[in-house]
Amino acid sequence: MKIITAILFLLGFSICMFTCTNRYTAGNDSRGAQYAGAASCVSCHQEIAGSYAHSNHFKTSSKTDVESVRKIITTLNDTVRFPGNQLVLLATADKRLMQTYMRDGKPVTAQPMDLAFGSGEKAWTFGYWKDAQLFQLPLTYLSELKRWTNSPGFPADHPSYARPIVGRCMECHSSYAVVENSLEQGMSYAQKIDAGSIIYGIDCERCHGPAAQHVAFHQDHPQDKHPRFITAIKSLGRQQQLDLCATCHSGDPVTLKSIFAFVPGDSLSNYYMYYPGAAANPDAHGMQMQSLMQSQCFLQSNLTCTSCHDTHKNEGSIQEVFVQRCMSCHLKSDHAVTMRSAKNDCVSCHMPLEASKSLDFNNSAERNNTSYRLRTHRIAVYPDPK
Ligand code: HEC
Ligand code: HEC
Ligand code: HEC
Ligand code: HEC
Ligand code: HEC
Ligand code: HEC
Ligand code: HEC
Repeated sequence: MKIITAILFLLGFSICMFTCTNRYTAGNDSRGAQYAGAASCVSCHQEIAGSYAHSNHFKTSSKTDVESVRKIITTLNDTVRFPGNQLVLLATADKRLMQTYMRDGKPVTAQPMDLAFGSGEKAWTFGYWKDAQLFQLPLTYLSELKRWTNSPGFPADHPSYARPIVGRCMECHSSYAVVENSLEQGMSYAQKIDAGSIIYGIDCERCHGPAAQHVAFHQDHPQDKHPRFITAIKSLGRQQQLDLCATCHSGDPVTLKSIFAFVPGDSLSNYYMYYPGAAANPDAHGMQMQSLMQSQCFLQSNLTCTSCHDTHKNEGSIQEVFVQRCMSCHLKSDHAVTMRSAKNDCVSCHMPLEASKSLDFNNSAERNNTSYRLRTHRIAVYPDPK
C-alpha cells in the first residue's frame, strides 16, 4: 500500500514537473497582465505557431540580426555613392554593424544598425537609437534589386541620419511600444520610445487580442476543447473582420487613438478619423483595403482578406494557392476555367504590379529612381497588365 502511494505520489509529482513548470508567468508582457506573450501559445497551437514563425508579419521588426545582414554586405555592394565625393560605407565595428558617412575619404558620421524594419521580403530598413529616440539610417536593402540603396524619401544629394522612426511605424510593424505623445501626427516629429517596452514583430495577441485568461483556463482544463476567453474571428461580422486587417492595411489616416488598443470585434472608426473607403485613388503600398473595396469581387460577394490570405502561413509566392482561391468563386466563368486548365495564373492579369506613388527608392549618385511595386488589390480587367 505504502509503495503504491509512493509511486502515485512520484507520478503526480513528475507530471506536475512537466506541466506546472510549463505555465506562463503573468506580468512578463509589457502590454499588461491580460497578455500571455507569444511563447505561451506554442504548447497548444504547435502547428500554427510553427508556420507563423516564418511569416513576414512575425518578422516585420526585430533587433538587427547581425549575421544575416553581414552576409548581404559581404556578398553584395557595401557602399552607396552620393554626388560629390560622398559615400556611405557598411561595415562591422565592435561587433556592431555600422553605416558610416564618408566625405573626401574621411568619416563624418557613423551610427549602428540597432533595429531592423521590414521582413526583408521587399525591403529592409534600419534604425539607430539616440537617447530615447529612433532615427532611420540612410541605406535600405531593396530585395527586388538585391542591393543597398538610399532610403525611400531621403534626400538625393547627401546621406541623411535625421529622419525619425515614429510611434506610428511601431503601431503597424510591432506588437507594442510605449510611445510618448503617441497621437502626435507627422513623420518628422521624433517621439520618445521606451526601448524596453517594445515587443518586436506582429505576434498572436496583436491580432487575437489579450489571451492570458484563455491560456490560464485551458491549462487548468486540458480536457475542454471548446475555446474560451478568446474571440472567434470567423464568427465576427464581415466589417469587423475587414477592420482587423485594415488597422494596418488602409494607409495612414489621422488617428484618434493608438491602434495598439485595437482588438478583434472593435470598429476602426473608433481609431481613425475617416473610414478607409474615402480614398479615390488608393496607393498600391499599404492601402490594400481601399483598393479591394473598388473591386467587383468585393462589391458583389462577402469577400474578406482571409478569403485569399491565410495569415498563419507565408504563402507569398505560391501562385497555385491564389488560383484556387479565385476559382472558389469563379467556377462558372468559362474563361476562368479555360485559363486555369491552361495553367495560367489569374493574378498577373487581374492584379497587376503597380508602382507606389508615395514611395520610391532613389539611387543617389546614379539618380535613376527605382519604383516600389506591389500587387494592386483593385481586381479588374486591365487592358495592358504587367
Ligand atoms: C493550454 C492550451 C492552450 C494554450 C496555451 C493556448 N490555447 Fe488557444 N485554444 C486552446 C483550445 C483547446 C482551443 C480550442 C480548440 C482549437 O481551436 O484548437 C483554442 C482555440 C484558440 C483560438 C480559436 C478561437 C476560435 O473560436 O476560433 C484562438 C484564436 C486561440 N486559441 C488563440 C490562442 C493564443 C493567441 C494563445 C497564446 C497567447 C493561445 N491560444 C494559447 C488551448 C490553448
Ligand atoms: C499590426 C498591423 C497589421 C495587421 C493587424 C495586419 N497586418 Fe498584414 N502586414 C503588416 C505589415 C507591417 C506587413 C509587412 C510585413 C513585412 O515586413 O514584410 C504586412 C504584410 C502582409 C502581407 C504580405 C506578406 C505576407 O505575409 O504574404 C499580407 C498578405 C498581409 N499583411 C495580410 C494581412 C491580413 C489578411 C490581415 C488581417 C487578418 C493583416 N495583414 C493584418 C501589418 C499588419
Ligand atoms: C495577422 C493577424 C493574425 C495573427 C498574427 C495570428 N492570427 Fe490566428 N487568426 C487570424 C484570423 C484572421 C483568423 C480567422 C481565420 C479564418 O477566418 O479562417 C485566425 C484564426 C486562428 C485560430 C482558429 C482557426 C484556425 O485557423 O485554426 C487559431 C487557433 C489561431 N488563429 C491561433 C493563432 C496563433 C497561436 C497565433 C500566433 C502563433 C496567431 N493565431 C496569429 C489572424 C491572425
Ligand atoms: C499604417 C501602417 C503602416 C505604417 C504607419 C508604416 N508601415 Fe511600413 N508597411 C506597412 C505595410 C502594410 C507594409 C507591407 C505591404 C505594403 O507595402 O503595402 C509595409 C512595408 C514596409 C517595409 C517593407 C517590408 C517588406 O520587406 O516587405 C518597410 C521596410 C517598412 N514598411 C518600414 C516602415 C517604416 C520605417 C515606417 C515609419 C516611417 C513604416 N513602415 C510605417 C504598414 C505600415
Ligand atoms: C468570394 C468570392 C470571390 C473570390 C474569392 C474572387 N472573386 Fe472575382 N468576382 C466575384 C464576384 C461575385 C464578381 C462579380 C460577378 C462576376 O463578374 O463574376 C467578381 C468579378 C471578377 C472579375 C470581373 C471584374 C470586372 O470589373 O468586371 C474579375 C476579373 C475577377 N473577379 C477576378 C478574380 C480573381 C483573379 C480572383 C482571385 C485572385 C477572384 N476574382 C477572387 C467573386 C469573387
Ligand atoms: C492573359 C490574361 C488573363 C489571365 C491569365 C486570366 N484572365 Fe480573366 N480576363 C482577362 C480578360 C482580358 C478579361 C476580359 C475579357 C473576357 O471577358 O474574356 C477577363 C475576364 C475575367 C472575368 C470576368 C468575365 C467572366 O468570364 O466572368 C473573370 C471573373 C476572370 N477574368 C477571372 C479570371 C480567373 C479566375 C483567372 C485565373 C484562373 C483569370 N481570369 C486569368 C484576362 C485574363
Ligand atoms: C481575391 C484575393 C485577395 C484578396 C481578397 C486579398 N488579397 Fe492580398 N494578395 C492577393 C494576391 C494574389 C497577392 C500577391 C501574392 C504574391 O504573388 O506574392 C496579394 C498580396 C498582398 C500583400 C503583399 C503586397 C504585394 O504586392 O505583394 C498584402 C500586404 C496583401 N495582399 C494584403 C491584403 C489585405 C489587407 C487584404 C484585405 C483588405 C487582401 N490582401 C485581400 C490576393 C488577395
